[in-house]
Amino acid sequence: MTRDDLQGFPRHDLPPPVSLRAYRTGDIGAWVRIQQEADRLQAVDAATFRRWFGHDEAEIARRMIFLCDGDGREIGTAAAWFGDGKYEGWGQIHWVAIVPKFQGRGLAKPLVTAIMERLVELGHSRAYLTTESIRIPAIKLYQAFGFKPLIESDKDRIVWDSICNRL
Ligand SMILES: CC(C)(COP(=O)(O)OP(=O)(O)OC[C@H]1O[C@@H](n2cnc3c(N)ncnc32)[C@H](O)[C@@H]1OP(=O)(O)O)[C@@H](O)C(=O)NCCC(=O)NCCS
Repeated sequence: MTRDDLQGFPRHDLPPPVSLRAYRTGDIGAWVRIQQEADRLQAVDAATFRRWFGHDEAEIARRMIFLCDGDGREIGTAAAWFGDGKYEGWGQIHWVAIVPKFQGRGLAKPLVTAIMERLVELGHSRAYLTTESIRIPAIKLYQAFGFKPLIESDKDRIVWDSICNRL
């Protein structure tokens, strides 16, 4: 899905006592725990983290955030990553997840708001993300933030037609 500009997206405030903070070195364990709890569709471990985010800790700290509960425990995460290949220069919304206990409480909206704002601060003027057709809650979330389906082939159109019937 793509968004051709980063202006005028919805802004959602975080309900206290939930808070946001930037990635700190040593957070890989928290990131893996959140992804494993949130997502039964794929196996995630520390190697997954390094494969997608590399080893530049300062860059990761600039681009990854955690959602924390009132006790400071990490309950969600997302990254304001950068695009590559034909999306070089674009921002990329990456690895959004909230642990099941805290899903459905409206927390993904302030999390995505913060990530969109981060992308703007980092100088991006448009953004994209990749997801899977089975992830209907995520697709609805991104749609609410103005992301549109990217349809480049007949196959894409068929897949998006079937998604639209489930939204
Ligand atoms: C996607 C995810 C982060 C959403 O978190 P959440 O806390 O449930 O989201 P929110 O409560 O803030 O809801 C935000 C929007 O998401 C959509 N949504 C959330 N749960 C949904 C569900 N069960 N069915 C359909 N849409 C849903 C809705 O559009 C909702 O807005 P609305 O309540 O105004 O209709 C969470 O489901 C998750 O971690 N999923 C597993 C990991 C994943 O798929 N990540 C995305 C990878 S691309």
